[in-house]
Amino acid sequence: MSITPRFLDELRSRVNLSEVIGQRVKVTRAGREYKACCPFHHEKTPSFTINDDKQFYHCFGCGAHGDVIKFVMEHDNIGFMDALEILAAQAGLQVPKPSPQEAQKAKKEKDLYELLEDATEYFQKHLLEPKNQDALRYLIERGISRETIAEFRIGFSPDDGQALRSYLIERGYKDADMIKAGILKKSTKGGPPYAFFRDRVMFPVPDRRGRIVAFGGRVLPDHLRPPRRSDFTPPKYINSSETPLFHKGRMLYGEPTARRAAAEGQPIILVEGYLDVISCAQAGIRGALAPMGTSVTEDQILSMWAMIPDFTKVPYLCFDGDNAGAKAARRICDRVLPLLEPGRSVNFIFMPDGEDPDSLIKGQGAAGFQKAMAQSVPLFDFLWNSYTQGRNLKTPELKAGVKAQLEDEVAKIAHKDVQSYYKSQLSRKISDFFFSRSDFGNGNRGGSWKNKPQAGRSGMIPVKPRSPYAQVKTLFPKVLLAGVINHPHIFDDIEEILTGMVFANMRHEMLKQLLIGIIADDPDIEGDKLVEKIQNSGFTQEIRDICSESVYVHASFCSPAAAKESVQSKWLEYYSDGNAVGLEEEIHNGWMRAYLDSSEEDEERLRALLSMKVSDNDG
Ligand code: GTP
Ligand code: MN
Repeated sequence: MSITPRFLDELRSRVNLSEVIGQRVKVTRAGREYKACCPFHHEKTPSFTINDDKQFYHCFGCGAHGDVIKFVMEHDNIGFMDALEILAAQAGLQVPKPSPQEAQKAKKEKDLYELLEDATEYFQKHLLEPKNQDALRYLIERGISRETIAEFRIGFSPDDGQALRSYLIERGYKDADMIKAGILKKSTKGGPPYAFFRDRVMFPVPDRRGRIVAFGGRVLPDHLRPPRRSDFTPPKYINSSETPLFHKGRMLYGEPTARRAAAEGQPIILVEGYLDVISCAQAGIRGALAPMGTSVTEDQILSMWAMIPDFTKVPYLCFDGDNAGAKAARRICDRVLPLLEPGRSVNFIFMPDGEDPDSLIKGQGAAGFQKAMAQSVPLFDFLWNSYTQGRNLKTPELKAGVKAQLEDEVAKIAHKDVQSYYKSQLSRKISDFFFSRSDFGNGNRGGSWKNKPQAGRSGMIPVKPRSPYAQVKTLFPKVLLAGVINHPHIFDDIEEILTGMVFANMRHEMLKQLLIGIIADDPDIEGDKLVEKIQNSGFTQEIRDICSESVYVHASFCSPAAAKESVQSKWLEYYSDGNAVGLEEEIHNGWMRAYLDSSEEDEERLRALLSMKVSDNDG
């Protein structure tokens, strides 16, 4: 007997789904169903439902779905047969022995593994033979040590169509299996099958358990190859084609090493090729993986996440620093966005010009690579940069265009929560960016409009000066608001700026709008009256925070006691100083190239501002 659908049905009906799940996670009854916090994603309120009648579970949060067998496989991280054993024991059933055909199939697979193992040993042995010393010398010249060669089991396939075949036939293997395993090719000319890899450095590809399932073969450089008669240039790399054991799109080169590294807390890094993985590992960066000549698939992204044991799973993806690299990164974005989940993302590493991880490590050691890693870009920032960098965003319609494009990207995120965080980060970023710099970058820098705001120019917000200015940053909007609240008579002169500003703090922004509304209704309103109105509209806390001695002490012009005549000019001066601090940060971020050629005068001014004391009391 073998495992039949009938046996599986029997097993499903003999065990109770909610009970099996209840043995593993806390389950509570909800009407006819049961609920639990989903064990397959992180959540605090249960969206995982269990239906005993229908014999399935479903998670409304992450979409996990299946029957009792699948649950045990996924939860316990075990294979199908092991799950059956566990459940059968619980149900008092005996798992049937596999049928002769099944046993045969399993044996055949085992034979294929053995065949590929023997082939690997054959290639390894040939790399060390004196007549192939060019191949070994090539690897050593590329900086690969003997230990690394042994660890990655690098080999060499001689330029002989029959040698490997004879070797394996002698060990009892059949042509058909060697073809199936991808190491022999059928002859189209009626001759015997011949070696697929010839005169190539061989990179055996292990599966996650370390069993060899395929090979990549690299040509030797021209000067080490015998001259060819035809002008045919062989491809630099050839990879095994799909076999019963090898599915290119689901595997990555370097898995066993990277898995171990990830378990020890090292980062997972996707690189481009075999030699990148090997050089990284040799330099101690052991979490490197590479696809095998194909573009990255969803399965590969999921498998990288699965390798990382922490809740936060953010592998690094390495790309060339050129246009092609940026394009490849964009393609991966398209794959990743729909798959994002809480705690899961990717970081982008862009290589310096003309380098790949292998050459970078050879030139600058592991430190060079780590430096590139330290400059990695989170997914959100990469998306943002790829739509905004180097683009003209000066007009409202161009801004709206970029906004629409970015919103389309965010719409690709399937996970609701992640999507909504992306949305809010995007709208913040848009207001920071559009309202702070592009308007401001029209050539009117420094103090030229310090005291005279120009018509049609919207204002800016103080964009996050770095830590030394942290206090200025929180103070800046409060001082400006306090100035207007306590001295509404300046409103006429600063209206343009105030309306154009967008406060990062939502409550400040709302208060600002309220303030503008009240003054528009009653242009002659006095400060104390204004304070009262704002308080009555639910902003007591903000008024306490803004109209406070702790604010006035830094800029006395905004206090109610300040001399009326000087408030307006002091307000504008303060505003334009803060503006320049914002400018400084923009240069710091390297956002707008335009700023990079700011005049010496600007720089002087910036330097002065850097030393601007927070308590710069202007009396
Ligand atoms: P190395 O000299 O080996 O370091 O090559 P490289 O740094 O120039 O790498 P390249 O960008 O050419 O290749 C990166 C990866 O792409 C390789 O590891 C292969 O998996 C794949 N690849 C490169 N060339 C070919 C090819 O001609 N055919 C196929 N199928 N894959 C290739
Ligand atoms: Mn390379």
